[in-house]
Amino acid sequence: MSSRHRLLIGILAGIAVLVLLVGIIRYRRRETQEWNTFLVGDPRAGAQIFQQKRCSSCHAILGAGPTLAPDLGLRGAAGSTMANLATQMWNHAPRMWETIDHNKVPYPQFSREDMANLFAYLYVTCYDDESGNAAHGEILFTQKGCIRCHSVGDGGGTVGPNLRDTGPVDTPIFWTQTMWNHAPAMQAHMSELKIAWPQFDGEEMNDLLAYVRQERGGTEQEAQLLPANPRRGWNLFQKKGCITCHAIRGVGGTVGPDLGAGRPLPRNLTQMAARMWNHSPAMWTAMKDKGIQRPTFAGQEMADLIAFLYSVRYFEMGGSPVIGEALFSERKCSRCHGADGRGGDIGPNLRKRSGPLTPVTFALALWSHGPRMYTKAQELGIGWPALNEGDLSHLLAFLNSTPAVAHN
Ligand code: HEC
Ligand code: HEC
Ligand code: HEC
Ligand code: HEC
Repeated sequence: MSSRHRLLIGILAGIAVLVLLVGIIRYRRRETQEWNTFLVGDPRAGAQIFQQKRCSSCHAILGAGPTLAPDLGLRGAAGSTMANLATQMWNHAPRMWETIDHNKVPYPQFSREDMANLFAYLYVTCYDDESGNAAHGEILFTQKGCIRCHSVGDGGGTVGPNLRDTGPVDTPIFWTQTMWNHAPAMQAHMSELKIAWPQFDGEEMNDLLAYVRQERGGTEQEAQLLPANPRRGWNLFQKKGCITCHAIRGVGGTVGPDLGAGRPLPRNLTQMAARMWNHSPAMWTAMKDKGIQRPTFAGQEMADLIAFLYSVRYFEMGGSPVIGEALFSERKCSRCHGADGRGGDIGPNLRKRSGPLTPVTFALALWSHGPRMYTKAQELGIGWPALNEGDLSHLLAFLNSTPAVAHN
């Protein structure tokens, strides 16, 4: 081979490596971008926005506040995804704006961050725990065998500590964390005493916690806001090795179930604690098999981790661009925004945006452009298009697709 040839091959190989590297970097960047859109805002900042923007002058949260408008803490399952929350806002917007006008409440302006924080807050109120039934919890304390090793005050076993004197367990998050951390030691004692690992269903864990809290003389549980950060939670999910066995929507291991898809997450935090408790022995076995050290949690870690898991589900989109395109004309969006969403005589192009439309940015658009949209609709004699649950995911999938893809 001549030296020219060798040089040429060298250069070609160099280029190939470069192309590959650029490809990898871009791929990774895309991946992190995708993750960033999964992460929600800060619920505590959102609680302030809720006050500042005067939502609180009409809406109550879980019974606390005025009754001029629906209680936003009682949306139940309907408010269980961001898309549903944005849909409810859209559907009720005209009546809401009339009320805002009528009551001379200043019309709120939002930044993208404000809206993300507000959504985080409204979501947290949705999975806040109801206070459990302490009387039922006392029965469970015996029924589930806790009493054989523990007391909460007087009477009961002494194998484990008196739960009245232990560290903080008063909130569902701390409870989850403590139960997770101590599960292996408990499991060892239980197998020694031939006690089967107790399983928890429905509200049982919540009731048990209510009993323990009552016996500890805990104060009435205040509406607890997660001081949690889903971004840190995503780091923990990787650092603590959860991702070795659990995927989030296909990214990660397959030993345990995908925690980003399939079975919905429980409606409240103590149900989540119950689920982790129920599966603890099987998980620990899987960890031993794989030589993974069982992680423990301290401080805010469990809060962050759970906030992350919920934030993933909260963004549940999974719409179809094809269905979305059909809905776009059925719901009359096309009358103003053009059949393909690329702009019409009245409405702007919706498919040429700097970032993807998410429920948060859609809600942002609703609050900032909605009144003008509504006025136009009235001028044209078009009723405000009502969206069904599920429509928005499809509409956003359509609007986020590149126009060429949507047309074949
Ligand atoms: C002046 C009173 C007023 C203010 C201020 C107000 N709303 Fe509303 N809101 C209403 C009314 C009235 C409805 C119900 C409209 C209907 O029945 O169609 C409503 C409905 C809603 C719904 C749908 C509720 C459901 O159960 O379907 C959401 C979500 C909502 N508002 C969020 C907000 C947020 C977030 C803010 C603050 C940025 C806000 N609202 C500010 C009066 C108000
Ligand atoms: C077979 C005995 C046994 C049973 C049954 C048992 N535990 Fe435990 N538990 C222990 C032991 C031992 C510890 C201390 C473990 C350690 O040091 O890691 C413990 C620790 C705990 C802690 C942490 C206390 C702390 O120091 O913060 C909690 C909370 C707890 N158990 C709750 C329960 C509940 C609720 C039940 C019933 C579902 C239960 N336990 C059943 C033996 C048991
Ligand atoms: C070594 C593998 C492994 C690791 C590491 C692991 N898990 Fe699991 N996990 C499993 C298996 C296997 C199951 C199913 C257990 C069963 O069927 O009882 C499971 C079940 C669960 C469940 C119940 C799922 C459901 O929908 O019922 C949750 C929640 C969970 N794991 C959370 C976590 C978290 C959080 C971490 C990180 C701290 C973690 N797991 C680490 C293997 C693992
Ligand atoms: C009657 C006409 C009309 C209808 C029907 C209509 N829109 Fe609009 N839309 C507008 C106008 C006009 C604007 C721009 C308002 C402004 O500039 O403040 C707009 C703005 C928007 C924006 C914000 C764009 C941006 O730049 O951020 C979104 C998102 C949107 N519309 C979505 C929809 C969807 C989804 C539907 C159907 C469910 C729909 N619109 C139905 C007229 C309409």
